Amino acid sequence: MLLKYEYLKKIKNPSSEIFVLGSEAQPIYKSRPLVESIKESVLVFNDFERVGIVAQLKGDPEKNRKLGAQVYQQVLALKLVQVSFNGEFNAELLLGFILAAYEFEGYYKSPKKKKINLTFDLENKKNVEKIVALCSSVYWSRDLVNQPFNKLGTREMVDQISARANQSNFKLTVWDKARLKKENCGGILAVNQASKVDPALAILEHKPKKPSNKKPIVLVGKGIVYDTGGLSLKPTPNSMDMMKCDMGGLACMAGTMDALAVSKSDKWVICLLPITDNVISNTAIAPGDVITMRSGHTVEVMNTDAEGRLILADALDIAKDYKPQLVIDAATLTGSAVAAIGDLGAVLMGNADSKTFHLISKVGDQTGERVARFPFWDEYSEQLKSPIADLKNLGGPTAGSITAGKFLEHFVGYDWLHLDIAGPGYLKQGRHYTPTGGTGYGVRLLTSFINEL
Ligand code: BES
Ligand code: ZN
Ligand code: ZN
Repeated sequence: MLLKYEYLKKIKNPSSEIFVLGSEAQPIYKSRPLVESIKESVLVFNDFERVGIVAQLKGDPEKNRKLGAQVYQQVLALKLVQVSFNGEFNAELLLGFILAAYEFEGYYKSPKKKKINLTFDLENKKNVEKIVALCSSVYWSRDLVNQPFNKLGTREMVDQISARANQSNFKLTVWDKARLKKENCGGILAVNQASKVDPALAILEHKPKKPSNKKPIVLVGKGIVYDTGGLSLKPTPNSMDMMKCDMGGLACMAGTMDALAVSKSDKWVICLLPITDNVISNTAIAPGDVITMRSGHTVEVMNTDAEGRLILADALDIAKDYKPQLVIDAATLTGSAVAAIGDLGAVLMGNADSKTFHLISKVGDQTGERVARFPFWDEYSEQLKSPIADLKNLGGPTAGSITAGKFLEHFVGYDWLHLDIAGPGYLKQGRHYTPTGGTGYGVRLLTSFINEL
């Protein structure tokens, strides 16, 4: 849905309106004539002059975002094309409304052209624009995930990030295959070696003139544009068919960089995005192969479907060169994370101090992009021992998301948080303000978290 925004000094006699009532307000709308439907806290009326939707605010931000999504569903059901927002201005309600209105354009012969014009009171202009900008970063993140592999391979991904860098004003440097070879990025090169398309590493940077942090915050995102599993081939139904989403970590981090750049955050942030497909051919890496990573560690690749950790390991090693304050990675890394907590939040691990863990959990609850911290005990690492190399890329039959995290820990030498977003990065069935498909998970969480650091 295309949303258009307009601001008026005094909104007069709209043909349709969304009237927002404070959470403490009396439900005066009971006296409105011809009530059409009452859906929890959303009420629709039609007094022959106009159609109105009355929303009663709650005390909790997540509930207000859900309320915004309900209001949007009513606007859609009533086919309203011109609405004004009246009554109390609530940022979360508007956020939920706009996030719910997202639709992937798709590839139809006749494209859908639906548009809603929204009118706001001029005094809310700044607030509305802030929310619209943040939603635009989330929309972009969702678009990246929703584009299939044949439309968004490594090259197209670099092109789209480059176009956005120009538009949103962040710096972009791209390492090509030759540079990756020179840097001994053995993990990225091994995952890529079956492909006809070269890998890339995109380096995004947002550096304000006077940053509030002396050392940069470094973000790392898994950018597997498609994951077939490689020679350890995935079964197609319910396993491979969604794997265009395996660059969800990249989408999360690129969207976060976009939001930070557009909002002119005072934080200095660098983002490393290793990009490749994980496909199959006679040049593919084989289970049992031993590779040498950028860090110098050797890895016995026991499962070519555990490829995310191989490309992330090189990027995490590069992150050391920036002497970072904190490194955060996001990746659609393991099915085990989904088995453990489903798609309601990300699985969180790392070695950062407890203050940092508390902050990200708090921001997760506030934004509705929740995180669940998992144990990270040393003993889990024993499952990664190889008889012929420093470590293998496959753990045992249990605690798969943790052993994946433990694998990454070998390549880290700084404060670090790891987010496994295999569950919330892509929804097979949308809910509330998150439609089916790419969710943009983590953009709002990390933008707020970084600004609060
Ligand atoms: N991309 C997958 C993980 C995934 C699963 C993402 C479901 C999104 C939804 C990852 O590369 C993978 O295949 N992981 C394996 C690791 C295993 C071989 C150790 C897994 O989780 O099964
Ligand atoms: Zn895989
Ligand atoms: Zn993968």
